[in-house]
Amino acid sequence: MSTNAAFPPYEMTDDSGNIVGIDAEIAAAIAEKLGLELEILDMDFDGALAAPQSGKSDIVMAGVTVNEERQLVLDFTETYANGVQKVIVPEGSDITSIEDMQGKKIGTQRGTTGYIYCSDTPENGGYGEDAVTGYEDGATAVQALMNGQADCVVIDNAPAQEYVKANPGLKILDTEFANEDYAIGVAKGNTALQDALNTALAELQADGTIQSIIDKYIPAEAE
Ligand code: ARG
Repeated sequence: MSTNAAFPPYEMTDDSGNIVGIDAEIAAAIAEKLGLELEILDMDFDGALAAPQSGKSDIVMAGVTVNEERQLVLDFTETYANGVQKVIVPEGSDITSIEDMQGKKIGTQRGTTGYIYCSDTPENGGYGEDAVTGYEDGATAVQALMNGQADCVVIDNAPAQEYVKANPGLKILDTEFANEDYAIGVAKGNTALQDALNTALAELQADGTIQSIIDKYIPAEAE
């Protein structure tokens, strides 16, 4: 499994350097069902997306949003979680809605849907490439927000909650930027693995395993 373990609570490293989180636990449950051994490779997000196609990994699981561009190089399983792109700002920011982001410095994680939407042209609901910086990962984008290099950060809701909890002085706007589905990616044409994953996911869905893993990391009141 390729991933980018800077995306809590889906994937992050614990104090002993193990990769933990929702994706890691779902992947472990799937591997157990399929009688396979799980090995997790941490890399940057673009690398994690490219890894199944180049044979460096069998699956990518990294809170990956299904979109058309990615479907050209990856086949996806059924979705296992939902994500919403949200906006983080410093408390007291003059950005109170998505419209206020015009002319501001927008931070995102490189290669993510947040970057793709924000860097799009204004006609397509974006702010233009010049307005957006794609940082190494979510933590780095939030760091840039903390030290004033960025005015806001667009990132998936669940990590947004984690970053705001960890960094006093930040808040999340109520408005949603986009609503998305997360799925597991395999190399284009690897239908045997795709089918096996879908069967395992359906069983883990039906017996409540997936919901209990999500509930463990995302308390219901944070939804
Ligand atoms: N859902 C977003 C996307 O697919 C962000 C995923 C970032 N994941 C990560 N592990 N860093 O573009």
